Amino acid sequence: MTMLAAKPVQTGGADASATNAPRVSVRNLTKVFETKRGRHVALDNVSLDVAAGESLVLLGPSGCGKTTLLRCVAGLERPDSGEITVHGQTVFSSSAGIYRPPEHRRLSMVFQSYALWPHMTVGENIAYPLKNLRVPSGDIEPRVKTVLEMVGLGSFASAYPGQMSGGQQQRVALARAIVSNEGVVLFDEPLSNLDAKVRERLRVELLTMQRDIGFSSLYVTHDQAEAMALADRIAVMGVGRIAQLGKGDEIYRRPLSRYVANFVGKSNEIAGTLKARDGDYAVVETPLGVFRGKAGPNVQGDGQSIIVLFRPEAATLERDIPATHNRFAATLKHSTFLGTHLEWIVVSGHTPLVVTVGDRAAHPEGETLHFSIDPNLMQIFPADEAIS
Ligand SMILES: Nc1ncnc2c1ncn2[C@@H]1O[C@H](COP(=O)(O)OP(=O)(O)OP(=O)(O)O)[C@@H](O)[C@H]1O
Ligand SMILES: [Mg+2]
Repeated sequence: MTMLAAKPVQTGGADASATNAPRVSVRNLTKVFETKRGRHVALDNVSLDVAAGESLVLLGPSGCGKTTLLRCVAGLERPDSGEITVHGQTVFSSSAGIYRPPEHRRLSMVFQSYALWPHMTVGENIAYPLKNLRVPSGDIEPRVKTVLEMVGLGSFASAYPGQMSGGQQQRVALARAIVSNEGVVLFDEPLSNLDAKVRERLRVELLTMQRDIGFSSLYVTHDQAEAMALADRIAVMGVGRIAQLGKGDEIYRRPLSRYVANFVGKSNEIAGTLKARDGDYAVVETPLGVFRGKAGPNVQGDGQSIIVLFRPEAATLERDIPATHNRFAATLKHSTFLGTHLEWIVVSGHTPLVVTVGDRAAHPEGETLHFSIDPNLMQIFPADEAIS
């Protein structure tokens, strides 16, 4: 590890290497695909920055534009408008007419499909980017050896990719991505072809490697747990756009929209009508009772149709009869033991809700129970807000 750290690539020139400037910067990026079915706006005015050493994860559903964004940064796709800088150097600018090809962007990429050369040995695959960078041949072998050891494949230099498991091949792809030590690695769902155990182990190894080497990464996944585990910050994507960008806990606790609240983690939704605004809070009348919660953007007019939203763990089991704000009664329909807690399906009126409680809460199915919810754990959004 120290060998890699001790051999930084000469970055030279007017770039961001010596400063805190972002390693990757995307500004107002738009990409439209013309297809037989018509125009599809795959990216609509997307902006983000990846700081030095940062792991930024793009999390979003299938087809929202994650791969397209990554391919634009890599230079494999030409955007319609916007700007991209890597290491402070402009690699794409529609206004200035700049487009640098992938090999001149000083970054590496790891794909879902490993993308190794089948006719080359593991060692030759990893040496490939170093040869392209014209690293002196005497330096190549020790560097290949170092990264192979880092990914736990010290004895595999002369093996061929076809003789290895998926997890091992992805380790080779990882070694190839970090061997040139360019400082920026793009990942497109690199673990999604692997089984759960291997995926989790590689995830931990990836984190360790990132800490040790200090590269910046833009990492695409549609797996929430993976995003939470790997990200310094997460950009939650909707179709062609970034719906919210922030730390994982911030996104979970303070979703800025119904879309984000529903995409990240589980949420309960109750429909109602706005009664009043009260500073950062709003009061909403619903068939389950009156609720006070944190008002999201565009919650303003009395009588507005509203969705009140809360996480399963936000509901607290109470002994007494619901009387005031933020309480509701519900019938226990189904209980599932999940090791550390119980997950209950309860029904209030006609509304099914999911709540989680400590595993000591033994109650028979069919019992009527009372719950309260802290106003700070309730989010309130306009009902007409798009949820995709
Ligand atoms: N070369 C292309 N030609 C036409 N449409 C394309 C092309 N590449 C992507 N698209 C469309 O752009 C949209 C975004 O695709 P993209 O591959 O970026 O999605 P994604 O978020 O990576 O999805 P997934 O999670 O399934 O990989 C999709 O609707 C896709 O059909
Ligand atoms: Mg994709």
